[in-house]
Amino acid sequence: MCGIVAYVGTKQCQNLLLEGLKRLEYRGYDSAGIATLENGRIRVVKTVGRVANLEDKLEEVGGVTGTMGMCHTRWATHGGVTTPNAHPHTDDKSGICLIHNGIIENYASLKTLLEEKGHRFVSQTDTEVLAMLIGELYEGDLEAAVQAALREVTGAYGIVVMCEKEPGVLVAARKGSPLMVGVGDGEHLVASDGSALISHTSRAFALEDYQVVKLTAEGFRTSTIHNVPVTPKVQQLEIELESIELGGYSHFMQKEIFEQPKSLRNTFRGRFVVEEGRVILGGLADHAKDLTKARRVVMLGQGTALHAAMIGRYLMEDLAKVPAVAEFASEFRYRNPIIEEGTVAIAVSQSGETADTLAALSEAQDRGALALGVINVVGSTMARQTDAGVYLRVGPEIGVASTKAFVGQVAVLSMIAMWMGRRRYMGASECGDLLRALEQIPSHIERILATDAQIRRVTEKYVDRENWLFLGRGYNYPTALEGALKLKEISYIHAEGMPAAEMKHGPIALINEGMPAVFIANKGRQYEKVMSNIQEVRARGGHVIAVATEGDESIRNYAEDVLFVPDIPEALSPMTTIVPLQLMAYHAAVLRGHDVDKPRNLAKSVTVE
Ligand code: M6R
Repeated sequence: MCGIVAYVGTKQCQNLLLEGLKRLEYRGYDSAGIATLENGRIRVVKTVGRVANLEDKLEEVGGVTGTMGMCHTRWATHGGVTTPNAHPHTDDKSGICLIHNGIIENYASLKTLLEEKGHRFVSQTDTEVLAMLIGELYEGDLEAAVQAALREVTGAYGIVVMCEKEPGVLVAARKGSPLMVGVGDGEHLVASDGSALISHTSRAFALEDYQVVKLTAEGFRTSTIHNVPVTPKVQQLEIELESIELGGYSHFMQKEIFEQPKSLRNTFRGRFVVEEGRVILGGLADHAKDLTKARRVVMLGQGTALHAAMIGRYLMEDLAKVPAVAEFASEFRYRNPIIEEGTVAIAVSQSGETADTLAALSEAQDRGALALGVINVVGSTMARQTDAGVYLRVGPEIGVASTKAFVGQVAVLSMIAMWMGRRRYMGASECGDLLRALEQIPSHIERILATDAQIRRVTEKYVDRENWLFLGRGYNYPTALEGALKLKEISYIHAEGMPAAEMKHGPIALINEGMPAVFIANKGRQYEKVMSNIQEVRARGGHVIAVATEGDESIRNYAEDVLFVPDIPEALSPMTTIVPLQLMAYHAAVLRGHDVDKPRNLAKSVTVE
């Protein structure tokens, strides 16, 4: 949830730290801070607001100097958004300085103990408790003090620590919150995400849970919190700079919406042969037998990923003919879920770091499920925890509102369902027909994107309305949920998504004159039923915006506005019907003057419960 960047080397580090922090700002952005070791003393500058506010403050105070330092952008958990609560936190007595991502769950009892020993706290954060604890245990060896402190701690952490008494030494550690270590030439870096490292080095390794790394300019030593040495696997980071830059677009969300044809082609590349009706998913090959015999599929996710999983449920039932459910990971992990033999759990996640999804996956694995991942970030915690999986390959997603990852998730789930279906019931020609349609989707999305100006005009008509409905049935019921989520998270308009048939069981009472109701009304099994639901809304004064199939001119008689999408098989349609909804949400946020890529109260990756 928070962005972490730290550096030790020979260069003046203020600007390179800030540059890295800007790349991570999507992870959290309510306050920011920096600390360097300046002439043997730790110097901290911090402020509420964005990295830009920190830059202003640094200019006011004449900047910080030093060749070792750390910086942080925060998404508040414990303690409000105030400057004292911003990171870094220090223990002045020992000269310890620390930044942290995660939650120290036993911070209250540790704080009481530390107060009894005379420590005085200036913030309400759990992080300051950890800084003081390390200070309390410090006896001239920072690495040992960090290890000892972490043995006392419960909760999640990705931390970087330095100490005035050990110039040129940074110590980082991780449990639950991701940290990457960048290995440079005469310099080392730590960041919560590889995108902050890539302009300095492409050689990096991920810290594992309960691991600690001690870094100097010249080298590093990795161990566990019990001081058992470990040898990390240094790998090449495969991030292209252009994929994390705006490249002419106004916002990352806009760029990522428009990137969908290209990202989807990447998702598909080499993964099926249309003429043979064959799906090739190398990541599943080792478990082909178990998957063919699967008796039940449980898909787990949160937010947008859950909506993709809900579509996955229809795909599994229709194409693989296997009973399937999709669940909030946060609910699943605390139920007493029954996992029978033959259960396959699929974690759906862009980041591969969502705390609830990770925990739910572990729960399913502990109960005997085979664990698959449908994940974007290569090498993420979840990707490493699963038994098998299929990467999305949509490239880094920076916009907090997930767009291209959703389409990638639905695409991968459809390929997995076809892959399983072919091994169970589906014939080559049936599969080939579907694959032919799948292959065309990037071009269809291009056609929808070409109608962007019309979508903006329609959005303008309704942008001042405070309550919207999104309604769909079957495959496009989850699309309705996703459309509503997109609108609310970036434009702060109240939006409800639901199955269209549910309206008359209560929510129809909400309809009043001029209320926008977006119907996903493409051709499909329940088209006529959706038409009836549209009539019900119109009869009560609602204004209908229909997402409809090209050629369906008659729908103009039932809707104030129509946004057309190409005619494709219903099972694949959410990959196209979502696109106008993404663009509507984007335009609504821009028209209302909101910061599209950094919506209030949100962060890209939710690594706390
Ligand atoms: O990284 P994940 O896909 O696991 O994230 C899950 C949700 O937090 C995420 O989809 C969230 O709902 C997005 N902000 C939606 O746009």
